[in-house]
Amino acid sequence: MYAAMGVLGLAPSKETGPVPTVGGAAAPAPYVPPQRSDFSLRGGRPATVLVLGAGVAGLACAYELGKAGYDCTVLEARDRVGGRSMTLRGGDAVTELPARVHSGTTQAAATLGAGETQQVTFGAGTYFNAGPARIAQWMVTLDYCRELGVPLEVFVNANASAYILTEGMKAPVRARTARADAYGYVSELLAKATDAGALDARLSDADKERLLDFLSDFGEIGESYGYTGGDRRGYRVNPGVGAGTGLGTPPSLTEVLSQALGRMLTMDAGYEQAMPMFQPVGGMDGIVRALAAQVGAERIRTGTRVTRIMNRPEGVEVTFDGGAPLKADYCVAALPPHLLARIPGNLGADVRTALATPVPMSAGKLGLEYGRRWWEIEDRVYGGATETDLDVGHIWYPSYGFHTERGLIVGYYNTGEDAETYNALPHRERLRRALAQGRRVHGGKYGTDLIASVSVAWRRQPHIEGSWVRWPSLSGFTLLQRPAGRVYFAGDWLTHLIAWQAGAFESARKVVTELHHRVLKEG
Ligand code: PHE
Repeated sequence: MYAAMGVLGLAPSKETGPVPTVGGAAAPAPYVPPQRSDFSLRGGRPATVLVLGAGVAGLACAYELGKAGYDCTVLEARDRVGGRSMTLRGGDAVTELPARVHSGTTQAAATLGAGETQQVTFGAGTYFNAGPARIAQWMVTLDYCRELGVPLEVFVNANASAYILTEGMKAPVRARTARADAYGYVSELLAKATDAGALDARLSDADKERLLDFLSDFGEIGESYGYTGGDRRGYRVNPGVGAGTGLGTPPSLTEVLSQALGRMLTMDAGYEQAMPMFQPVGGMDGIVRALAAQVGAERIRTGTRVTRIMNRPEGVEVTFDGGAPLKADYCVAALPPHLLARIPGNLGADVRTALATPVPMSAGKLGLEYGRRWWEIEDRVYGGATETDLDVGHIWYPSYGFHTERGLIVGYYNTGEDAETYNALPHRERLRRALAQGRRVHGGKYGTDLIASVSVAWRRQPHIEGSWVRWPSLSGFTLLQRPAGRVYFAGDWLTHLIAWQAGAFESARKVVTELHHRVLKEG
């Protein structure tokens, strides 16, 4: 109510009070959801809104607007809600578009073959988050989980017991071993250079002492500054009653440098990737299911492909396959920009150009269901990921169902050229290639006990056609933050959190706030 009064000029605006700051920058105003009572002050009424796309952004818009009684209708081209927030289980089917060759930025596509349909045959309880799978603590996505009652559990994003395998390595090593060696040798070099006076121009005597102290702990190099290994590397036979058997002498400095570990050891250093991370219990689609339930099934039309978007003086008119055009006061277009750019209408040349600017990217994932959790039983790996620079990218171990009979490994999660290589193949070939790579990490057991598999190439998913987008320039980004007439745009692609559900939520909140303020002002 206070916020609504502010909008109407009946309460002091934010600018008159002290502006809270975060790290010197103005903190964004806290989100205030629209409420029915916002209208009772001046007797306006909630508008009718057509929401295009039932991904996280579209569903969140309908959910938030619904709190104030807006009459929303969500049009979704796919036969399920959620967009990329897709969790696959036994009984699901995944159909792909034909493979294409993308040439540069023109995206001129040549059809190579027909699209394939995969039937998912996972057992009860097995699920595969083919899209988003991990949520950072600071992301608004967790607030929605709390609000919607979606239970959470830890997603093990980094695991010292998992492996690293790069093309520069003869054999995979445990992450803890690779880290001990890399930290050890880097510390040795820096300590010896410091001790020999090589950095005297840069360091005071006190700095040198502190740096040497730091390095002896950081690299476990002791007083001599020589790295000779230590129990951070782990054991061949772990200590118990006996003292354990070590892994032997560490590889040479030259060998460790040739392992190219920089990126492998810092995967979870990014602020979006830092542990602990979280996942909804039972599958990521728990979030979109809960949103859709709140919006109401009767307001969501799946299998409804939009074919035209028109701004009219009094409202919007949206045409779709197989039905009379729908009219509403406003529209929120929450589709991928590259698909929106292809939909005819009268949004204007600038808007069309802006929508066509973001470049759709490729990512792929393969789910492998095993009948025996050999990674837990034999390798003692409970969740987390093996990092590689092979074409499979990352291999993920399940963060749910520990010690149960079956389990689901993500056999590849790759992006860019690696994803395009796999995406161009039929599922059988993807599987064969990924299993061959996985054997380089885990040996022959990677191919046994395999029960079922399914792969998703996001560039080939109908009505999505990309894993996320990249903006080559931000000019159109700014333009699309504003509505085109009565049509607003929402999605992760309009935020600095691209490829995160949090981006979709943040964008939805912004659009809902602006649309609501406009309705309160203009009626
Ligand atoms: N959110 C996706 C993921 O966690 C994609 C992504 C990866 C986005 C890394 C940013 C950084 O895998």
